[in-house]
Amino acid sequence: MGGMRTLSLELRPLGLNLEEEAPLVHQVYRGSPGYFTLIGMELPTLEDVLQDLNTLAQDPRRRAFLLFQGPEPLGYLDYKLHYPEEGDATLSLLLIREDHQGQGLGQRALAHLVEGLAGMERLYAVVYGNNPRAKAFFLAQGFRYVKDGGPAIQWYVRPLSPHRFQPR
Ligand code: ACO
Repeated sequence: MGGMRTLSLELRPLGLNLEEEAPLVHQVYRGSPGYFTLIGMELPTLEDVLQDLNTLAQDPRRRAFLLFQGPEPLGYLDYKLHYPEEGDATLSLLLIREDHQGQGLGQRALAHLVEGLAGMERLYAVVYGNNPRAKAFFLAQGFRYVKDGGPAIQWYVRPLSPHRFQPR
C-alpha cells in the first residue's frame, strides 16, 4: 500500500463494454452512500446503473469515466460536451469514493478532465441538493457561482482557455 500515492491517475472512458463497466461504477456508488443520502436518492441498483450508462452512451455528446489509481475504481465522472452552448462542457457528476475523499483526488481528476477539454471555452458544474462540500470544492477550483437552475440546482462555471482571444 505504501506506493499508492505515487501511482498516476487514470480516467478510463466508459462505453466499450457496459456489462463489464456497470458493476465497477456500481462499486464506486456503493462506496459513496453519503452522496445519495445528501441528494435524497436511494442508492442506485446495478440495473439502474446499467440503464443510465446505456442512456448516456446513446448521446455522443455525453462522456463518462471511471477514475483509477491502481486496480480499484476510486471515482466516477460524467460530462456533456457543447452544452448548454457550443464551446461549453457541463460536468454533471464528479464522485470520489468516501474512503478516498479529501486526499486531493477530486482536484486531480478535475485537472485531468480540464486537460482533456482543450479547445473548449467553459466548464460548467451542476450541483444538486444542499451540498456545501461540493460548493466549497468547485469554488476552490476556480469556479464561480452562476445561477440557480431550479429549487435545488446550482450552476457554477470556470473559463478553460486563458488564450481564448488569441487568433488561431
Ligand atoms: N470542506 C471545504 N472544502 C473542501 C472540502 C470540505 N469538506 N473538501 C474539499 N474541499 C476543497 C478544499 O479547498 C480542497 O483543497 P485542500 O485539500 O487543499 O484544502 C479542495 O476542495 C480539493 O479537495 P480534494 O481532496 O481534491 O476533494 P475530494 O477528492 O474529496 O473531491 C468531491 C471533492 C468531488 C466533492 C468529493 O468530496 C465527492 O465525491 N463528494 C461526494 C460527491 C459530490 O458531492 N460530488 C459533487 C457533486 S456536484 C458535481 O459533480 C457537478
